[in-house]
Amino acid sequence: MSCASLSRQQNLRLTAALSGDKSISHRAMILAALAEGESRIDNYLESGDCLATARIFRSLGARVRRVARGSFRVKGVGMRGLKTPGTDLDCGNSGTTMRLLSGLLAGAGIRARLFGDASLSRRPMDRVVLPLERMGARLQGSGKRHLPPLRILPSELSGIRFRLPVASAQVKSAVLLAALWAHGETTVIEPVPTRDHTERFFKYLKIPIRVAEGRIRVRSVGRIHRFGVRVPGDPSAAAFLAAMGALVPGSRIEIKDMLWNPGRTGFFTALERMGAKLRVKKISVSGPEPTATVSVAASALSALTLRKRDVPSMIDEFPILMVMATQARGRSRFRGLGELRVKETDRIASMVTQLSAMGARIGAEGDDVWVEGPTPLKGRTLT
Ligand code: S3P
Repeated sequence: MSCASLSRQQNLRLTAALSGDKSISHRAMILAALAEGESRIDNYLESGDCLATARIFRSLGARVRRVARGSFRVKGVGMRGLKTPGTDLDCGNSGTTMRLLSGLLAGAGIRARLFGDASLSRRPMDRVVLPLERMGARLQGSGKRHLPPLRILPSELSGIRFRLPVASAQVKSAVLLAALWAHGETTVIEPVPTRDHTERFFKYLKIPIRVAEGRIRVRSVGRIHRFGVRVPGDPSAAAFLAAMGALVPGSRIEIKDMLWNPGRTGFFTALERMGAKLRVKKISVSGPEPTATVSVAASALSALTLRKRDVPSMIDEFPILMVMATQARGRSRFRGLGELRVKETDRIASMVTQLSAMGARIGAEGDDVWVEGPTPLKGRTLT
């Protein structure tokens, strides 16, 4: 067990450059492993999740070399070169690995079995199994929700027209990856936009993809050329530093070279709407993605209401947003957070329990959360 303890702070000044974005790190490794020749990935996020993806591609035949912290050289196998793994593939705690790899392995026609830790073994895979089955794939998890382990059997796939029933970039990306081998065209229709890193990467690598008015169309591809990318800093990690800058009196926090993709900046927009002082400068491009240097300074915060369609662009940032709302004047309301219940933990239940223990006024009504502020929080031991 590890334990951190903190006391009241003020006047924090910090300039930070963060490790690479988790979602883009996964996609960079996946596409490098499918490319021909050696690709270069810098600022790769060396977290358990992204390292699980890297290890899996070693088992599938790619040569993945770590040359320095965050720097990898990946000798890809080409679109027809993935080998049948000799062992079951361990996704650890990573839902992104399991869902994206389900689409990729089904598309490539590779026999495999994906498993994960206790938390991942409780997460529903039916959301990827159902569209992939419509494409002709054969996947089998446990029970109606197809809980992991997930077995994948080789078969030929055909393109489908698929309307996403849940706003999930993981599901979208699983189908788009499978489509790289499918006969004919695949269309994914997104009623609400979700992070578009897969689409941007496909365009960057000249994979035939068209995106217009919530419709994404992809065809199979014969080869992907090797590439070099530097993964921009992770806005989901930056959110905690930004919250510190906004909350701790007299503070200013600057985050350099952060991913500045509108599908991921919802938290920063929310922070500004609550009254925090946000400055965005040096907007630039790193491979397929925009980046920026962002600074946040403390000021008085007021409550905020968010709708269901605001959720995808900040899906992983709600826990820290709820903390911020405890310090904002008025009643914040966050609606339509159902997807938070099927993450690594039920994030609604965890946040209501833990923040209540610290003295916050917070509650859930179905999939909506309200927070009443400002409330002084009390130090507590949280488990
Ligand atoms: C991710 C998409 C999100 C996010 C996850 C990473 C991705 O999940 O919560 O941490 O890389 O596509 P959903 O798309 O399932 O909401």
